[in-house]
Amino acid sequence: MPIIAPSLLAADFLEIGKACEMINQSEAAWLHLDVMDGRFVPNISFGTPVIAAIRKATDKILDVHLMIEEPEKYTPLFNEIGANILTVHAEACSHLHRNIQQIKSLGMKAGVALNPHTPLSSIEEVLQDIDVVCIMTVNPGFGGQKFIPSMLSKIERLKKMILTNGYNTQIEIDGGVTLENAPEILNAGADILVAGNTVFGAKDPIKTIELLSKM
Ligand code: DX5
Ligand code: ZN
Repeated sequence: MPIIAPSLLAADFLEIGKACEMINQSEAAWLHLDVMDGRFVPNISFGTPVIAAIRKATDKILDVHLMIEEPEKYTPLFNEIGANILTVHAEACSHLHRNIQQIKSLGMKAGVALNPHTPLSSIEEVLQDIDVVCIMTVNPGFGGQKFIPSMLSKIERLKKMILTNGYNTQIEIDGGVTLENAPEILNAGADILVAGNTVFGAKDPIKTIELLSKM
């Protein structure tokens, strides 16, 4: 059964407390939080004060996706406010191995995200140290975009790399996940599905999370 990580980016920001209550009642194990700096991606979302408030409203695993430059500067702060998984972009890290170790040394799980054009070879040498590889299946910066179908083969190839080497790394898929395409994404080897608009745009978000988690 996949882990479902609803992305708060698609929620009504006037009602973040209600969104957290919905997540608490749902089968979602993780809550995905998209932090954007307006530099690494052409959009700005929310930051540490908002996540600190969310931490008080839920015991779910907080899966923080940093779409920011120089993530190492803010890593200790995200740990202090209660992030459980901290994901940095390979493209934003000149010293990715050091950044992964920094995240893990603070007690968080380390995630590394790859933009659609970034090859798997860019993480091959550190794959054994990564807890979660986040394959971006849209170009990061905005919710509600269309899944890029050619990413399915990237997921398959990553799964092979992990299994061949006997690593424990999990594969997370972020961007354009729907009830329709989730089965083929899972077949390709995904362990975690991020879903923004599919969950928060649904008439019944709790039911939608249940359907996704039973796939
Ligand atoms: C995109 C974000 C995603 C986004 C997914 O930059 O990283 O997490 O919220 O939203 P949907 O599921 O609507 O594509
Ligand atoms: Zn994300």
